[in-house]
Amino acid sequence: MDEQVSETAIRKDEHLQICLEKDVNTRLSAGFESIKLKVSALPGLDFDKIDTSKEIFGRTLRAPLLISSMTGGSQASKYYNQILAQAAEHFGIAMGVGSQRAAIENMELEESFRIVRKAAPNALLFANLGVAQLNQGYGIEECQRAVDMIEADGLYLHLNGLQEALQPEGNRNFSYLLNKIEAICKVLLVPVLVKEVGCGIDKDSATKLVDVGVKAIDVAGLGGTSWAAVEMYRQNDPVRKEVSERFINWGIPTVTALKNLEELQGKVVIISSGGLDSGIDMAKSLALGTDLCGFARKFLLAAEKGEPALYQTIEQILLELKISLFCTGSGSLTEIKGKWYS
Ligand SMILES: Cc1cc2nc3c(=O)[nH]c(=O)nc-3n(C[C@H](O)[C@H](O)[C@H](O)COP(=O)(O)O)c2cc1C
Repeated sequence: MDEQVSETAIRKDEHLQICLEKDVNTRLSAGFESIKLKVSALPGLDFDKIDTSKEIFGRTLRAPLLISSMTGGSQASKYYNQILAQAAEHFGIAMGVGSQRAAIENMELEESFRIVRKAAPNALLFANLGVAQLNQGYGIEECQRAVDMIEADGLYLHLNGLQEALQPEGNRNFSYLLNKIEAICKVLLVPVLVKEVGCGIDKDSATKLVDVGVKAIDVAGLGGTSWAAVEMYRQNDPVRKEVSERFINWGIPTVTALKNLEELQGKVVIISSGGLDSGIDMAKSLALGTDLCGFARKFLLAAEKGEPALYQTIEQILLELKISLFCTGSGSLTEIKGKWYS
């Protein structure tokens, strides 16, 4: 293993530990408290017949819930990938793995990702690489390898400009990336999704990405895990530590980001994530017109406590979603669309 390779795996473990042990939440909210659902006192439907299923990229989900991209790439994170994938299979929901860069650099780490498809043979699964890697020698070959590693149904490319800027070792060359993303979209055998990691995606960037062939935008907005906070805890240098702290509330709150993407609804899959905390937040996201809702750190913290805690967390979210659908008189996911005011 060369120095660069081990650095990637070590960094992944540091991120995981910090996210488990420290308060890494933004101080500003994702904005769901500003959205009210239009409730119906006479829903006119049978709770037990509410349909929460959703078809995305050829797979039918039992609910539009996604375990957002987090782990893999180190021995420690294999446990999380396995338990999260088992939950995805059990509940019929989707899952993304964390950045596969460490395993592209060192094949010995592939198993920490492969375990996901083994544990979730029927789940909608997304591979993951950083967009910044496309300027570090990565191309279609590495993207296809990431997809093949977990027999993924799609590839997430993550945008993390702020994080890379804050990391002393960050890859900060983000020039000409749109052309490179377009090239990947043209050749890759599965759809390309683009996500942020907690700062949100603006309308202009999202539109350009869709124009070059991206099939899903995951806003991953401000309001939940803050990578500035994570980097603040990692830094020893006092200047970088303070700079990181100042960026903790940087970005577009998730609800604002979702509203900004209204024109893209129906053209591509829109994913709500970043600070979602409940099935009510899911219902509000669906009312705003999104297709799928992702939770990251909430599931990580539950998984740390073990399988029963993780399953209970997911069951609770799904129950809250179903109650929200019932009490807004929505027999299916499409029926809640537009049923909000602020
Ligand atoms: C421990 C941890 C590791 C993460 N690693 C990745 C990653 O490798 N790739 C990625 O696209 N996003 C990664 N994320 C970001 C999440 O997918 C998500 O966009 C972000 O945490 C916001 O969601 P949340 O507020 O529900 O945590 C990670 C998040 C956590 C908590």
